[in-house]
Amino acid sequence: MACTKKVILLTGGTGLVGQGIKSAAEQNPQPNEEFIFLSSKDADLTSREATKSIFEKHRPTHVIHLAAKVGGLYGNMRANLQFFRINMSINDNVLSVSQEYGVKKVVSCLSTCIFPDKTSYPIDETMIHNGAPHTSNYGYSYAKRMIDVLNKGYNQQHGTNYTAVVPTNVFGPHDNFNLEEGHVMPGLIHKVYKCKENNTPLTVWGTGSARRQFIYSLDLGRLFLWVLREYQETEPIILSVGEEDEISIKTAAELVAKGFDYEGEFVYDTTRSDGQYKKTASNSKLRKYLPEFKFTPIDEAIRATCQWFSEHYKKARI
Ligand SMILES: NC(=O)c1ccc[n+]([C@@H]2O[C@H](COP(=O)([O-])OP(=O)(O)OC[C@H]3O[C@@H](n4cnc5c(N)ncnc54)[C@H](OP(=O)(O)O)[C@@H]3O)[C@@H](O)[C@H]2O)c1
Repeated sequence: MACTKKVILLTGGTGLVGQGIKSAAEQNPQPNEEFIFLSSKDADLTSREATKSIFEKHRPTHVIHLAAKVGGLYGNMRANLQFFRINMSINDNVLSVSQEYGVKKVVSCLSTCIFPDKTSYPIDETMIHNGAPHTSNYGYSYAKRMIDVLNKGYNQQHGTNYTAVVPTNVFGPHDNFNLEEGHVMPGLIHKVYKCKENNTPLTVWGTGSARRQFIYSLDLGRLFLWVLREYQETEPIILSVGEEDEISIKTAAELVAKGFDYEGEFVYDTTRSDGQYKKTASNSKLRKYLPEFKFTPIDEAIRATCQWFSEHYKKARI
């Protein structure tokens, strides 16, 4: 029996998460699936006209919506207004144009850093709107939360199948390794690379005590494809390693040092903010669906990312 062809358009397809999905799709190809990975150069999705023309060009049946203005703690603190406005326009354009073009399914991307600051742990999918997010990234957080509002509205009023996933901290090849704007793991990878090269001590920002759950972009890619192919709920699903796999920034720094075989000294710059102390997320909903899913061990995933960074240093986003 012939399968219906799926044209899967990935907004933000050239970034960390998009390239993780690309690797996962290459490892587990389906004959009826064609993937299109967009960058901001193909279309600036803050423009409704540009969004419409790219949909007109590719006529997708499915959309994985990743495009966003993203940044680490310090980038967010400096520009909450821009994070809010840019992400609100991108999300509104992508979802409304998807509906207009009859896209069957859209999977968008939220993040655990958009959850309420004052909350009980572990956080789960039902708690997204329960209270204000951390003040450091309220612009990004409120814009992301509105994706869930839009998904419910489109599904109720237009019978669409729009949903969202909630990854924890992602890392892997193709990340933004910029020290000021990037997230903690790529920042550490860039710093340790430099320290090893220059034989200098490693300065970790903050006390090192904040805790995070990290997910390797290739594992996230495999889970994203499962959501696209199988998951049928409107309600979001957290894509994360277990609570027991949450680690401190200090441990993350030590694993990166091991990844580069760096044996120098560590200094903690406590004048820098730690951000939210922890955001422990439950992956029990995911585990109910996929009890056997195997995550890549974190030391292996970090070592592979360190190697990718060393090999791509001249071309990487630094
Ligand atoms: N990184 C994490 O730890 C993490 C955690 C949870 C959720 N997420 C979510 O995952 C998604 C992907 O993030 P990422 O880490 O892969 O980010 P990334 O590496 O910075 O990639 C962002 C992507 O969005 C595109 N983009 C940015 N502004 C755009 C615009 N105005 N129009 C069109 N495309 C635009 C970029 O295109 P160019 O390459 O041309 O700039 C790039 O392809 C985001 O929705 C983010 O919120 C990320």
